[in-house]
Amino acid sequence: MMDEEERLFIPVVLGTTRQGRMSEHCAQVMLERVRARQGVDTELIDLRRVPMRTDDAGESIKDPEFSGQMSRADGLVIVSPEYNHAYAGLHTCLKEYIHKAVGIVGVSAGPWGGSRGIESLLPVMRELGLVNIFWDVNFASVHKVFDERGTLLDEAYRKRADKFLAELVWMARTLRHGRRLIPLE
Ligand SMILES: Cc1cc2nc3c(=O)[nH]c(=O)nc-3n(C[C@H](O)[C@H](O)[C@H](O)COP(=O)(O)O)c2cc1C
Repeated sequence: MMDEEERLFIPVVLGTTRQGRMSEHCAQVMLERVRARQGVDTELIDLRRVPMRTDDAGESIKDPEFSGQMSRADGLVIVSPEYNHAYAGLHTCLKEYIHKAVGIVGVSAGPWGGSRGIESLLPVMRELGLVNIFWDVNFASVHKVFDERGTLLDEAYRKRADKFLAELVWMARTLRHGRRLIPLE
């Protein structure tokens, strides 16, 4: 019981740094829906604010703040734009992700809501030790979903986000329980 009452930390990762990114509006909707849940803390992790080094020396290029956020996280909402049927990466951390829950929010200009990018991201999540949930949120034809000020035009997305988050929170709680109580053989 105690474990269920303890707050979860589920940040929303905005997975693109592109100028004019529509994914930012989608991330704001997801952030609003996570904040609407009791017992869950969240924050927006904008990749624009995560230093990306170009002198790659393996795990030593890891940003300490990002690594700390990933260690603290019980689950992740990743807002992933579809670029050329693919996705953007999260590869600087590894042990921080293991046995944590992840849900993916696809964003695309096309009609499939980033589902091709999500499908190609799933095996990468698995390799990182994250546990995928079986719901996605798909922002399809995203330019029609928000007005020019970024206001959501279709209420159905809030309902979809809530359904997705209910599953993500369940998985995050279950995995936290397992990490703490069930030793690995
Ligand atoms: C390099 C690049 C490749 C893209 N490839 C696709 C694609 O394969 N399918 C699609 O539906 N939209 C594609 N788009 C459009 C994006 O999905 C669209 O911009 C959407 O809003 C999500 O990305 P954003 O957050 O950067 O705006 C592409 C955009 C860029 C910049």
